[in-house]
Amino acid sequence: MNKVALITGASGGIGYEFAQLLAKDQYNLVLVSRSEDKLEHIKKDLENRYGIQVIQLPWDLSYPETPEKIYEYIKSKKIAVEVLINNAGVGTWGAFAQSDWKRESATIQINMVTVAQLIHLFLPNMLRQGKGKILNIASTAAFQPGPLMAGYYASKAYVLSLSEAIANEIKGSGVSVTTLCPGPTQTGFQSAASVKPVKLFSSKKLPTAKDVAEYGYQAMLAGKTIAVHGMKNKILVFLVRFLPRSITTHLVKKMQESRN
Ligand SMILES: NC(=O)c1ccc[n+]([C@@H]2O[C@H](COP(=O)([O-])OP(=O)(O)OC[C@H]3O[C@@H](n4cnc5c(N)ncnc54)[C@H](OP(=O)(O)O)[C@@H]3O)[C@@H](O)[C@H]2O)c1
Repeated sequence: MNKVALITGASGGIGYEFAQLLAKDQYNLVLVSRSEDKLEHIKKDLENRYGIQVIQLPWDLSYPETPEKIYEYIKSKKIAVEVLINNAGVGTWGAFAQSDWKRESATIQINMVTVAQLIHLFLPNMLRQGKGKILNIASTAAFQPGPLMAGYYASKAYVLSLSEAIANEIKGSGVSVTTLCPGPTQTGFQSAASVKPVKLFSSKKLPTAKDVAEYGYQAMLAGKTIAVHGMKNKILVFLVRFLPRSITTHLVKKMQESRN
């Protein structure tokens, strides 16, 4: 029988590419995101091309009840999830005091609470089975505070810290937790977050969602704890360790101001 992977935010961007990779490796898929029509199209395409089964759950991950609803649905179908990819993520740009609270609170719910709760729901069974893989998508934003995208940067710091700690707790169990940290990537993320590109990156060719997903997938299979995508991002993340937080915070502010 095919193994099963649960992927959030699979209707586009990096999550869509994860779905392609896992389908190719003969995983049956449970895909969650809001766009029912896109999920329907992806389901038909992957089932036809790879002979796998796809369950689409067109549910909103900003609703606090959604993680439990996903878990109960999967339990009712007697499915054991062997791979969990917490990919869905949103952000918003602008000074925190003036930002739209609805968007800030959706960021907290989707990027942090949903991620934590899905791990909390699915990890115990993986541990009982002695196998399983969890891949959480953070960002290079996880490594320092981010003025003008304060909530987003903080949410990704939470994902990184939570994931590293759990990975340590379950060492030797047969289950791994990997955190993928992409830098700016060609997806619909920026338009969804209503942000213009950062000047520093606008003239450069950004990595594709496919590049990033392939890198993250290999890191997850290898059971790595942290996977920073791209040499420049690796260098930046390394350098950040040696600079005072006040300086990195100031530099990020300058970078985020250039979106204006
Ligand atoms: N792109 C970048 O530059 C970049 C850089 C670093 C890290 N990341 C991280 O990578 C991950 C994937 O981002 P991406 O760039 O691929 O983003 P994207 O192209 O905007 O795709 C986001 C996915 O999440 C789903 N989603 C958004 N809100 C949702 C909600 N309320 N409920 C359910 N699903 C929802 C979207 O589907 P629906 O709209 O159909 O719901 C879509 O499938 C995120 O965690 C992001 O923070 C991205």
